[in-house]
Amino acid sequence: MFTPDTSSYSQSSEIYYQSLNEQLNALFADERDLICNAAQLSAFIMQTIDDLNWAGLYFARDNELVLGPYVGKVACTRIPFGRGVCGTAAQTLVVQRIDNVHDFSGHIACDAESASELVIPLVVEGKLVGVFDIDSPVEKRFSEQDQAGIQAMLDTFVSSCDWQWQF
Ligand code: SME
Repeated sequence: MFTPDTSSYSQSSEIYYQSLNEQLNALFADERDLICNAAQLSAFIMQTIDDLNWAGLYFARDNELVLGPYVGKVACTRIPFGRGVCGTAAQTLVVQRIDNVHDFSGHIACDAESASELVIPLVVEGKLVGVFDIDSPVEKRFSEQDQAGIQAMLDTFVSSCDWQWQF
C-alpha cells in the first residue's frame, strides 16, 4: 500500500513540493498508462495538499475538453475551449490561478463550495493534450509557490505517461 509522506509539510513549501515530486516519481516508476497515472495523480494531490475539494484532468478533444480521471464531486463532462476557467486555460495555454472564482466571468460552478481554482494546461510535444484542474473551498488558496510546485508535479506526470493514443 502506498502511504504518502507528508512529514515535511511544516517546512518550506519548496521542500514540501520537492518531497511530493520525488514520491510521485516513485509512484509512476513502474507504470506508463495515461489513464492509470492520471487517476493516481488526482488521488495523490488530494491526499497530500490541504484544503482541496476537486482535482483532476480534462482531455482536449477537437475544440473542447472532456472530463478525465479526477477525485471530487460529479463535474461537468464537456467544456468548450474559451469557456470557464478550464476552457480559458485550454484556449490561451496560460495557467489560470484564480483567487476568487466568483470574480471570474464565465466560471463554471461544478461544486458550489469551490472558492479558488488553479488550472494548468498540459502540453506534450507542443500540442495541448488537456488541462489539470484543482479547486479549493478556500479563497486565495493557491500561491505562486503552489503553482510552481504543482507545475513541477505535472511535468513529472507528463513525462511518466505514454501519450500516443492522445494524438
Ligand atoms: N470550474 C471549472 C469547471 C470544472 S470544475 O471546477 C471541476 C471552470 O470554470 O472551468
